[in-house]
Amino acid sequence: MNKSDSEIVASVLTNGGYTVTTEIGKAGIILVNTCSIREHAEERIRKRLQYFKSLRKNSPGLIIGLLGCMAERTKVALMEEERLLDLIAGPDAYRNLPQLLRQARQGKRVFNTILSADETYADITPVRLDSNGVTAFISIMRGCENYCSYCVVPSTRGVERSRNAETIVKETRDLIENGYREVTLLGQNVNSYHWQTGDQNVSFSHLLEMVALINPLMRIRFATSHPKDLSDELLRTIARYGNLCKAIHLPVQSGSNSVLDMMNRKYTRKDYMDRIIAIRHILPDCAISTDIIAGFCNETEDDHRDTLSLMEWVGYSAAFMFKYSERQQTLAADTLLDNIPDEVKDRRLKEIIDLQQKLSLKSNSEDIGSVFEILVEGISRRSKNHYFGRNSQNKVTVFPNTGTRLGDYVQVRIINATSATLIGEPV
Ligand code: 5AD
Ligand code: SF4
Repeated sequence: MNKSDSEIVASVLTNGGYTVTTEIGKAGIILVNTCSIREHAEERIRKRLQYFKSLRKNSPGLIIGLLGCMAERTKVALMEEERLLDLIAGPDAYRNLPQLLRQARQGKRVFNTILSADETYADITPVRLDSNGVTAFISIMRGCENYCSYCVVPSTRGVERSRNAETIVKETRDLIENGYREVTLLGQNVNSYHWQTGDQNVSFSHLLEMVALINPLMRIRFATSHPKDLSDELLRTIARYGNLCKAIHLPVQSGSNSVLDMMNRKYTRKDYMDRIIAIRHILPDCAISTDIIAGFCNETEDDHRDTLSLMEWVGYSAAFMFKYSERQQTLAADTLLDNIPDEVKDRRLKEIIDLQQKLSLKSNSEDIGSVFEILVEGISRRSKNHYFGRNSQNKVTVFPNTGTRLGDYVQVRIINATSATLIGEPV
């Protein structure tokens, strides 16, 4: 999500006459795009800002700005507190950046953290940053109104709004013409994507179909799905098109009904299991990944064991696992006690990570002997004679380079596996 936003910012500024540099010493402006989702992310950004401030010694006119969720959350407080920022812009204020920068260059401290009900940056063609030329992200909606009790997103990114479907199709077409072979459609809750104009009524399933039909060589992924909104219709659409990837990221957060209720996730363990059964039934070769939070308010050992048992039951191929971190301006911070001791959170998180390690290894080992179509994304970090790419299930696969190029599709037979990687040979 953040990378996609940075690409919108780069586009706004390029159109405003600025250029992007990869050498920090040459930059006249440093804009730090931020996430507030966990406290840890904010701490890292504070440290980075101190470092950027030190660059002012050699570059006196250097402008330092903060963008995104942390800008929205802390607003001017951070500017006052640390005196290291010249500019603050929330996630809906990027069009205003050229004007804010003009004022900042006159020595003013400027900010715009107004959230919008309709900004989707639909007409902005992102400038691809740090791109491999093969895979890209397209933001299809902004904001969230699910109000999960632990989550700061509804307060930092505003109300949910979907982007014009035609601009999404056009952006995908431009990407394929420029050699890209995979797009990931991004939103906090893509299943509630909904765009209407005149008599056209586009749901997320329709949108996926429109994008899938552009070119069978273009792979389509999407994130993130909310379990309460993942419909059978969507699963059937994914089944119909070979280029709609067979990988679903379905954050569960907890396996315990009482914790799910306190999290305001709006589904039960059974509802979630029913969605997994539907995926297994309609998309038998689909990989399922998840997000899990350890040590949420009032979580008992039984609740924690419910999470472990659900993980085992699903057999996730991968997971992002977090320790609960209380965020201001959330329902949980206002109404629940962050009452699980840190060492208990750490131990539960470790148990979750250890189990996932086993499940990932099991899931990957089951692929040994299979042949997958791999989209080549780059040269392996470990060996320049090896390429890496992903299969439809989003599993990273490493194989010897036998003369293929980035962006090619290669048939690879899996001969070995670790918990993180499939190892194969072209067939
Ligand atoms: N503490 C820990 N993890 C969180 N997440 C969101 N908010 C918090 C929080 N306050 C996790 C959720 C979400 C992912 C993007 O980040 O698992 O799905
Ligand atoms: Fe946060 Fe829940 Fe919205 Fe995801 S769905 S962004 S966890 S409020």
